[in-house]
This record gives sequence, C-alpha cells and structure tokens, in this order.
Amino acid sequence: MSEKSSLLGNSPAFSAAVEAGQPPESGEELITKGRRWSKQDRIWNFLIVLCSTAAILTIAYFPPGSTRSVRPSHPAEVEVERVGRLPAMGWNTWNSFWCDIDETLVLEHAQLMKTLGLADAGYNHVNIDDCYSEKKRDADGNIVASAIKFPSGMKNLTDQIHAMGFKAGIYSDSGWFTCQMYPGSFQNEARDAKLFQDWGFDYLKYDSCTVPFDGLLKEGQVGKFKRMANAIQELAKTSGKPPLQFSLCQWGWEQPWLWAREFGQSWRTTGDIEANWRSVANIINRNSFIAWASDFYGHNDLDMLEIGNGELTYEESKTHFTVWALLKSPLLIGTDLRRATNQTIEILTNREIIAINQDPVVGTGVTPFRWGVNPDWTFDNTHPAQYWSGKSENGTIIMLINTLDEPQNMTFKLVESPWIRAGRQYTVRDLWTHTDNGTAVRNFTAKAVPPHGVAALLLKDAGDEPEGIYPPCVELEWCTHRNGTRYDQMESEL
Ligand code: GAL
Repeated sequence: MSEKSSLLGNSPAFSAAVEAGQPPESGEELITKGRRWSKQDRIWNFLIVLCSTAAILTIAYFPPGSTRSVRPSHPAEVEVERVGRLPAMGWNTWNSFWCDIDETLVLEHAQLMKTLGLADAGYNHVNIDDCYSEKKRDADGNIVASAIKFPSGMKNLTDQIHAMGFKAGIYSDSGWFTCQMYPGSFQNEARDAKLFQDWGFDYLKYDSCTVPFDGLLKEGQVGKFKRMANAIQELAKTSGKPPLQFSLCQWGWEQPWLWAREFGQSWRTTGDIEANWRSVANIINRNSFIAWASDFYGHNDLDMLEIGNGELTYEESKTHFTVWALLKSPLLIGTDLRRATNQTIEILTNREIIAINQDPVVGTGVTPFRWGVNPDWTFDNTHPAQYWSGKSENGTIIMLINTLDEPQNMTFKLVESPWIRAGRQYTVRDLWTHTDNGTAVRNFTAKAVPPHGVAALLLKDAGDEPEGIYPPCVELEWCTHRNGTRYDQMESEL
C-alpha cells in the first residue's frame, strides 16, 4: 500500500479518486469497515481529507518562522561548473618521452607550443603523464612530486604553464599504482583530487592499471572511476573552483562509451596507440562502431596523437589527424616538438580540420555511411569503414579513407549521407588542399586518394539541382511517381 493511500484510509476507490483530484463517484456507495456511508458523509469526508492534506503540505513548505517565499528544489545542491564541452586540445608527455620527463622538458614544450603556432591553433593544455612522482607517498599519505624530475615543485610548474596561457594536466590511476608502478589513487581519491587542485592542475587523466581485488571494489570497474568522479565533484563544490576536467583511460575494456559520460569528459575507447598505420587503422575500425557516442561534454578518446612519430607517412599522418579530429576525439599532441618537421606542424595546425573538432554548434562527429572495401558493418582492423559523414556548423562533412595500398578513386552519391538533402546541389571544399572544388550534383568522386590517405570535404548547400535530371530519385528503390508508377520497376526504360 502506498504512503498516500494509508494516510487517506483503506478504500482503494476513495484514494484512487482523491489521487486523481476528484471526489469519489456519486451514486456508488462506499463501504468501509462494515459501515455504510451516506452521500453527505462522503462529501464531508472528502473535504476533511482535502483540507488536512493542504495543511500538511503548507507546513512542510513553510515551516513556522520561515521567511522564504520560494522553496529551492535542492537546498543543499551547489551548482558545479561544467568543463570540457569541446574535445581537449594540447600536448602530453607520454607518446614521445614515456618516463623520461622533467620540468625543463615540460616548460620547453609549453614554449614551443607558442613559438610553433600550436597555441594559436587551439592547443591549450600542457599535460604530464605517468612517472612524475616519487614511488612512495609521504608520511601524511600524499603523493610527492619527484625531487629529481620536478625539483621546483608542481605549483611552481603550473604557475608557469598558466602564465604562458595554458591549462595544466596531471595523471593518476584508479588502482593501487599507475601502470609504471607509481602511487595510484584508489582509496585516496579525495586526497589526491585536492592535491592536484592545490598543485594547480586543471585536468586529470585517470588510468586503469593495478586493479584492486573484487572483494574491495564491490562496484566493479565502473566503481573505480565513479570514486574519483565523485571526489572531483565534491571538491568542486567545497572549493568553489571548477572541477578537474576528467579524462578516463579505460582502454575501452568495459565499454566506457556507455557509462563514462556520467563521470568525465572523455574516455579512451581502445588500447595504446602505436606510431604505425596498423595501429591507426585498428583504432579507426573499432571506433567506427561507436562513433555515435561523442557529443558535447563527453568524447570518445582515440588516444594521443602519433603525428611526427615512428613510421607514419605524411598521408597516414593526415588520415590519423583527420579521423581523430572529425570523430571529436581529444587532440593531444604526443611528439617531441623540438624535432618536429614543418610537415608535422602543418598537419597539426590545419585550422579547417580543427574547426570541425572544435565546432561550437554541432557536438557530434562523423559516422560511417558505407564501409567500402568490405560489406557494411564488417569488423576489419586492416580495412575499416571508408565513407563517413557528419554535420557541422558550416555544412556536411564527408571523410573518405583509402585503406588500400594503392591510390583509389572514391565515389559516393551525396544522398548516401543522411545530412544531405535530395534534389539539391552542393559546393565542395577540400579541407586539406584548402581549395573549392566545384559543385557536386548527385555524386562526387575524390580522385586518386593516396594509399592510406584521406579526403576531407565540406559540402555546402548551393540550391536546387538543375531541372530535368534523370532518374527522378538518386536511390531508385521505391522511387515512385505520384500516379503510383515505381521507377525501380521500370529501370530498363530509364
Ligand atoms: C597506459 C595509457 C597510456 C599511458 C601509460 C602510462 O595505460 O594508456 O596512455 O598513460 O599508461 O603508463
């Protein structure tokens, strides 16, 4: 029995009627505890209950002595600022330097980000990854910055990073230790979040190594991240400062795209990237199935960029950058900027591509509309989906990836993309050559896309397509005249 019905008495018909805000139906006699009620009795009864309910509610809303006129919906609730609406951009120590890091290297890179034009292009985070601390916490239980690598202390470092116009990022782990066996934050979440904030960090990457036993976790893998997410929110409430931007690094193991949006602003979807095409193609394939999960404030993280590293060719690097940007992944540079070539910088600062990643109006990324080499929905780490599209502030984005080892002409019907209007023509802008490539009517072919290369196009509506084009529908299936004639059944006549 509900609380309400017990308060009003035992008659279901009576309580149902009162719940519905009506007096009980007249003409029907209600029997309670063997007593027959007259119609007058019932009306009185109804009025008494109505008045006492009103009185109880009034007292609850306006207790004696209360002066408030409007009751706040959640009196104890403090609004926490939202961070990370758009994918994070910046530089991170890990891909190039692993544990070989120190404050000089970090500051040097912050400076290079300015000199090389990366800061101007939007890269605004300088992030430290694993290995920055001593191996043991101090006597009070706090993480200690390595005296050798960061002798000036973390606060000093973040002050300098901030003075250069950047935000600062730090790293920890949801288990006992980090992947390189430095202290992790399990059971120290609130303490560490506070320390990171006191050190001046704005961003926290949170890893998944050294998992505590199930008997301790009880909440499963998700619970490890929830602990830190809660600590960050609590700290933001008590400190009044913005929450640390929270970047979950769970390698896609427990499908974080299904749950991590509740906790943080990005989540790794795959294992660690390597600086070769095999790894990039593998990440593209896996993400093709979950690309829908990115939107404002929550992004699939395809891992840090390898542009400028290892064996990636110029064309592969462009593809790598395009996919990451257009799927709305964080763009965290992972190369040694002291040795970066002009080509590396040219790729990383392609503003037309970055503009889509940082689109302030459309939060979602591109998704595949056709796989190409393979039948649609094929899981193939070597030949992932090739034909993708998505919306943007300025038009429809088309991304074509040549997964083959030789050049390929890549043709598509415009209406294969759900974001294209049938019966319209579109201007085509090439986001890598930075040229306008004419107007597409119904189809477009990107000619000779290089092996492992990419075409990134912005299509803008240019009005109705020319009159009299046949067939009357690009997609013939079920294309029907108003008189009922089906064009797909008279294909031979067309
Ligand atoms: C891995 C993570 C890498 C890097 C490394 C540090 O788990 O995926 O991006 O942070 O740990 O040990």
